[in-house]
Amino acid sequence: MSRLPRFADEWLYHLRFWRGLIHVTFRNTHAVDAGGVTSIENPCGSWDMTITDEEAIRLDGSARTKRLPLPVIHKTPLPRPSSIPTSFLLALAERRSAEHFVPIPSGDLATWLYYCASVQSVHSDDPNRQRRFVASIGALHPAHIILGSPNGKWSAYLSEEHALGDLIVNAEAALQVRAKAMQLFGSSEATLVALISDRDLVGNYYANASALMLRDASILLGHAALVAAALGLAFRILGSSGTPSLENVVSNLPFQPMATGLAWIGKREEFT
Ligand SMILES: Cc1cc2nc3c(=O)[nH]c(=O)nc-3n(C[C@H](O)[C@H](O)[C@H](O)COP(=O)(O)O)c2cc1C
Repeated sequence: MSRLPRFADEWLYHLRFWRGLIHVTFRNTHAVDAGGVTSIENPCGSWDMTITDEEAIRLDGSARTKRLPLPVIHKTPLPRPSSIPTSFLLALAERRSAEHFVPIPSGDLATWLYYCASVQSVHSDDPNRQRRFVASIGALHPAHIILGSPNGKWSAYLSEEHALGDLIVNAEAALQVRAKAMQLFGSSEATLVALISDRDLVGNYYANASALMLRDASILLGHAALVAAALGLAFRILGSSGTPSLENVVSNLPFQPMATGLAWIGKREEFT
């Protein structure tokens, strides 16, 4: 926290140096040359097709539209984040996929959300681009964190406001997502962390961006696992993006969703 710039002129300094540094990394196509492809037995069809399908194309962004918020019905401000009680080295040593979860207290959840997804600053030329503690494609941060509590309530983290917003959900889709997560790792007292990414926001800047959006969400989950470890919380990434049910969970979404990840979070169960 202490390394963050605190004053307006410091923000301007940082934003000036930040400008113009956002590029997409294209998938490297040098590994197999044309001669190599023809000499390899390839029963699955064309290698070129596979590569082209996954490649994102950067657009000029001139026709961009504004990021749209999730449709929440009630907002609850979250407590200020607590300080992180451990060193980075200990957090690394402590990170393990948890086996046992008990319900997460709201203060711990607030601190975890803050260090995962709160907004520190917004780009001066393009407010769609934000600076958060985690990296993201084009600084767009298209993945929304939505939370499914063990009591069946669903809410969304509102990154700009450090608040939770209650969501109206499609009950059947919500049950399907929870059932899928339980199938991957059973945990009745944990909160489900589900990532829903905004295809329309990303579509302003990149064509063919599905693979990029999945990678973006995976970065967030990896970051989230380390933050949870630093806070002494229980966390487990799951091997499903949540597709297709997760894309139908939130009612009245104002953008095209892409389900991009699931995880469990809770408090660690202490054994005596
Ligand atoms: C992309 C990804 C998918 C995973 N999927 C599951 C899963 O579906 N169920 C599960 O119990 N654990 C899942 N895990 C957790 C791994 O099993 C766990 O990370 C691995 O066993 C290593 O243990 P560690 O995280 O404690 O080091 C997943 C982890 C990752 C990174």
